[in-house]
Amino acid sequence: MRVASWHDTKMLDEFFIRGRNMWPDLGEISKMKFDRALVPDDVIRFMRSTALNEHGIVHYVKGYFRAYGDDYKLGIWASMWGGEEYLHSIVLRTILDGLGVEISAGEYDGLEQGRYEETSDGYLARKREGYRMDSRLQQLVYGVVQEYSAKIAYSSVADAAGDPNVASLLRRMAKDETRHCRFFQLCLEALAENVSQEERLEIWPQFSALFKDHQMPQEHIAMFGEYDMGTDLYVKFWTSEYRSELILYLTNYFRQFRDPAWLAKRMSGARANASAPEPALAHQ
Ligand SMILES: [Fe+2]
Ligand SMILES: [Fe+2]
Repeated sequence: MRVASWHDTKMLDEFFIRGRNMWPDLGEISKMKFDRALVPDDVIRFMRSTALNEHGIVHYVKGYFRAYGDDYKLGIWASMWGGEEYLHSIVLRTILDGLGVEISAGEYDGLEQGRYEETSDGYLARKREGYRMDSRLQQLVYGVVQEYSAKIAYSSVADAAGDPNVASLLRRMAKDETRHCRFFQLCLEALAENVSQEERLEIWPQFSALFKDHQMPQEHIAMFGEYDMGTDLYVKFWTSEYRSELILYLTNYFRQFRDPAWLAKRMSGARANASAPEPALAHQ
């Protein structure tokens, strides 16, 4: 089982290198000045919640491995993706530290001990009922939606952050999330070339089903609900402009899979580009 025609790890390697180049100053962030008086309380709440969520990466990577089965290259992706999200937890905790804001041991425990497997897998399995597609294809669809939502979340909170250093770090994380979204897209498109026409035509309705009732991953860890840190807080900063951007971007992206001629176009494009360079992963 493999994704499309990836005979090597070139694309994964390129992505890995780009990710490392995004944060050459990670160890220096703790020297930045952050002014608590400039940052609204709701932004603090968002950063506390999101620092914990990004810390919860073990839950999410396990979910990816379950969805990807024995697809080895997607396993590599899940591993490096986990590292990049953990980096976001470091950045957010460093900001909170600089602002004098704490995350309690109880909150860490609640997150780390939280149950995720049954609720998350159950949610996705219900969304897949009646579909031919496997959990791997579905996870890639979900990944595109979830990463673009994360991009919108960080961008919208950056606008409200008050402190310019906090805002610039949030914007950099938004760029990472855009890159994650792009990588999921490349995986989805590659896999879509290797499934039946029936499965390919399920991508659009599956996107619609997931997007209509969109639940961010943290919805499946009870602690976030108990501490009142669920999706409501996550989407609180989304202005109507950001909501429109999310809807238009995702709808425009996924509509291509509604076209039964999509594969023929992709294949003729692939032949024409056979000697052209690989597509860039960065989409910033
Ligand atoms: Fe992240
Ligand atoms: Fe991400």
